[in-house]
Amino acid sequence: MKKVKSVSEIRRLITESKKAGKTIGFVPTMGGLHAGHISLLKRARELSEFVVASIFVNPVQFGPGEDFSEYPRDEDGDCRILEENGCDLVFLPDASEIFSDSRKIGISIDRLTDHLCGSSRPGHFEGVLLIVAKLFNIVAPEMAFFGQKDAQQAVIIQRMAAELDFPVKIVICPTVREEDGLAMSSRNLYLSRQDRISAAGMITGLREAFAAAGKGERDPSVLKALIEERMKASGFEPDYIEIVRAGSLDPVDRIEGTVLMAAAGYLSSTRLIDNIAFRAAGKRVEEVLLEFPDWSRHGK
Ligand code: PAF
Repeated sequence: MKKVKSVSEIRRLITESKKAGKTIGFVPTMGGLHAGHISLLKRARELSEFVVASIFVNPVQFGPGEDFSEYPRDEDGDCRILEENGCDLVFLPDASEIFSDSRKIGISIDRLTDHLCGSSRPGHFEGVLLIVAKLFNIVAPEMAFFGQKDAQQAVIIQRMAAELDFPVKIVICPTVREEDGLAMSSRNLYLSRQDRISAAGMITGLREAFAAAGKGERDPSVLKALIEERMKASGFEPDYIEIVRAGSLDPVDRIEGTVLMAAAGYLSSTRLIDNIAFRAAGKRVEEVLLEFPDWSRHGK
């Protein structure tokens, strides 16, 4: 696996691979790699011929008082994981390689950031869109891989790619979970022993609400109350619990079609998020992976 720090060098290597006829699959990360990232790498390996990852703790997606300085950084450990899991090239830029005056440039997206993490982390998704757009321009991948745990991020990136005509297919991969259901996250490392036990309460609440939907409950406020009750009983201070339309991320007033049921909450000072996406048709409910069938308005 090649390790590259400069934009000019990665561009040279990507051009070489493209000339050799290889399709580029891209896994952008902030490091702190875990089994969720490994599943993205494996999917990238299956679907593309040259796998590129990036590790960059993006300062502009962290708000004041958030965990930018504590965010787990272990370049050597992360590179080992990448190499063992089929990565061909890793981009490890310093902040000065990425941001100069371009920090004054912004990309924002209407309405998709009004709910869920968008309302509790002002500026976060603008920071994500800026770095992802820059990385897409640098790496020029045919496909980019994101986890469903960060469902709002995936939806927003897909919309940006479609609206700004990036010729990239956004591929969503299922959330990878610990045995007790806790979604893998770099932030799980912050949890104390007690909080780690409590942390499964979020997915338990989501699953209880999904089970209630399976028994015919179609009122979002009833499902949200079930999630809230379970989260609070487990020791969470809920940040939000929302049920939104999967594509528009607008709140729904009745469960039907494909919805995203998402929660965020604090255990001590650690903020965790999780979700279940499901389709409700008549009496049936079925858990689904978010999909973007019309990923490009212009085809490929
Ligand atoms: O999901 C993440 O790790 C980050 O938000 C991303 C997409 C790498 C952008 O910094």
